[in-house]
Amino acid sequence: MAKYEKILLKNMEQPGYTGSLKEYEQTGGYQAFRKVCEGMAPSDIIETVKLSGLRGRGGAGFPTGVKWSFIPKDHPGPKYLCCNADESEPGTFKDRQLMERDPHQVLEGMAITCYTIGAETAYIYIRGEFWLGAKVLDQAIAEAKKAGYLGSNVLGTGKTINIFVHRGAGAYICGEETALLESLEGKRGKPRFKPPFPATHGLYQKPTVVNNVETLANIPHILNKGAAWFAAIGAPPKGTGTRIFCLSGHIKRPGNYEVPMGVTFREMIYEIGGGMRSDKPLKAFIPGGASAPFLTPEHLDVKMDFESLAMAGSMLGSGGITVMEEGTSMVWAALRLMEFFYHESCGKCTPCREGSSWLVQTLQRISRREGRMSDLDLLLDLCKSIEGRTVCAFGEAEVSPIVSTMRHWRSEYEELIREAEAAHPVKQEIPVLSQI
Ligand SMILES: Cc1cc2nc3c(=O)[nH]c(=O)nc-3n(C[C@H](O)[C@H](O)[C@H](O)COP(=O)(O)O)c2cc1C
Repeated sequence: MAKYEKILLKNMEQPGYTGSLKEYEQTGGYQAFRKVCEGMAPSDIIETVKLSGLRGRGGAGFPTGVKWSFIPKDHPGPKYLCCNADESEPGTFKDRQLMERDPHQVLEGMAITCYTIGAETAYIYIRGEFWLGAKVLDQAIAEAKKAGYLGSNVLGTGKTINIFVHRGAGAYICGEETALLESLEGKRGKPRFKPPFPATHGLYQKPTVVNNVETLANIPHILNKGAAWFAAIGAPPKGTGTRIFCLSGHIKRPGNYEVPMGVTFREMIYEIGGGMRSDKPLKAFIPGGASAPFLTPEHLDVKMDFESLAMAGSMLGSGGITVMEEGTSMVWAALRLMEFFYHESCGKCTPCREGSSWLVQTLQRISRREGRMSDLDLLLDLCKSIEGRTVCAFGEAEVSPIVSTMRHWRSEYEELIREAEAAHPVKQEIPVLSQI
């Protein structure tokens, strides 16, 4: 693999780096915010971020500069920034490291964003279990306030920027941006219909930007080194910059690795991750968190960027790569993920609420060797009734493990069913709804 420079994990990988304000400043920290406060026009900042090609690191990959440009300039306010630190996608654990080990990098990104969109108040909505991250961030906010980077009259500009840490209560759905806003408002975390979008009707119905932790952490570097520098890294033009990938599963060296966008899965799994844990061959991998369709060893040379993964029938998602070795039951893997989605369905949309229960029951039946061949059509039928019929993308997420494992390993489902049929012969198949 060609040599490359890390951006986001660089500081924390220096021996003895603790992430204090002093150490962060010594690495050039808050220089970008100083530059901005010296009088950079918000429109110039937005243009820089647009030109950098930065796309959201939370899952959907929406262009960050474009999102900021949707905030109405003439709105009297208040406007808000929400940093999405819920990190609820199974197999994803990068935001946690960014917050715990280099909190000021995230705070500086947030301060610049607030300045740009005209927000005086920002929230970090952090997953409840991340108590250490919340504590570290609270301490860092206090340090930044004392140094004049946050609070009233930041760096003598007359502007107010306050950041508050808000701990969630542990619901996957609260990572979805509108459910996050509901939860911040003190309601049950359930997604809202879009439109209207948070850019005009967000927190308390006011203009709001919701950005992921990693997205925001990139901002100071883009402002320091320029859009062209960032745009040349990775897989331009649509996959610029680096990405922190979370490697887990049957891998020798699990962990967080920052690499330029466009590295192949083969490089990631075998060079960076050290290969398979038990030296058994690779059977499957999930490329971008539990919501991303499974891929096979045939996809090892697919590049890790938005477009390449979409063409391979999956997605870059949250950057969580879970590797599975030969011998792993794909029916079991799908069931395990489906149990998670069933547990986490917020219940707002009937297809997701009821469908997830039916999917789990059907998968459990097949796993117990009590399934029938018609269960396979039933599963796909149920998936079709959920996909595209829910308020948020949770519906697409929950069917992806089933649809993709059925696409690549249908024979494993059939084998379990054949065992069931041999043990309990059935005289007549029960037709699925679409066949009646
Ligand atoms: C069910 C669901 C869960 C999500 N969980 C997260 C999450 O934990 N963290 C996150 O940043 N984005 C999550 N997202 C994506 C957010 O809705 C949103 O796109 C993102 O925070 C926007 O920030 P970005 O543009 O910087 O990526 C989730 C989306 C869905 C549908």
